[in-house]
Amino acid sequence: DDHPWIAPTATDVRSPCPGLNTLANHGYLPRTGMNITISQILGAALQGFNVDADAIIQAAKFGLLSGNAPETMNLDALSLHNLIEHDASLSRNDFALGDNLHFNETVFSTLANSNPGVDFYNTTSAGLVQHARLTDSVARNPNVTNTLKEHLLRSRESSLYLSIMGDPLTGVAPKQFVQIFFREERLPIAEGWTRPTTLIDSTTLAPLESIIRPVSMWVASQACEDLVIGP
Ligand code: HEM
Ligand code: MG
Repeated sequence: DDHPWIAPTATDVRSPCPGLNTLANHGYLPRTGMNITISQILGAALQGFNVDADAIIQAAKFGLLSGNAPETMNLDALSLHNLIEHDASLSRNDFALGDNLHFNETVFSTLANSNPGVDFYNTTSAGLVQHARLTDSVARNPNVTNTLKEHLLRSRESSLYLSIMGDPLTGVAPKQFVQIFFREERLPIAEGWTRPTTLIDSTTLAPLESIIRPVSMWVASQACEDLVIGP
């Protein structure tokens, strides 16, 4: 194993993204979590998860805005609220309610306990989890930010965890793999996970999102400016 999981040291920094953190914990990204380029992120996502650049390049570009360096970012800076980091996350608290950077088991219990009676998560359960997490934020967070931008980010993130931990073509992912990914930020290789053989890109993610989004019964809390994120 040339990319062993090693827990971050006291000086290593990590992000609110379980995907980037897992890549850093396995050494696909610099283990320090510091001074990371877009090229390093795109290469690591492909090597570690078989995720194509087209699925994450916008997020990676936005990530540069989290700091002052022209071409690099630090993982901890990605917790900057409302840049990419948003409310109603699956595994982190809302910014106004506490710690929006580190894994939180209480928050994660909604996803962990979803799809009862079977041993997998799917697009339907992911949509229901998004609904439950947003309902909780709207009820308890008077400062909640919930526009189309956040909805699209959250739906992309759900389709990503189902794809990298399961079958990118069906969106079915073993619960054990998803839970290890979020809780330990580790690739569950010892438990039987293998890197997806299907390239995960916007053409595989979009069909999953087209199920997740209506199931989530999303309603905006605020309007946002029209989103322009590419040509
Ligand atoms: C959140 C996966 C790439 C930045 C998330 C979440 C997942 C995820 C599942 C939701 C976490 C939660 O709701 O608790 C992935 C995967 C990636 C990837 C599999 C492929 C390598 C990226 C990239 C960036 C990024 C390229 C930017 C440089 C973030 C941030 C969050 C996040 C800032 C926090 C959003 C929030 O929940 O508030 N990611 N991600 N991710 N991701 Fe990623
Ligand atoms: Mg968040």
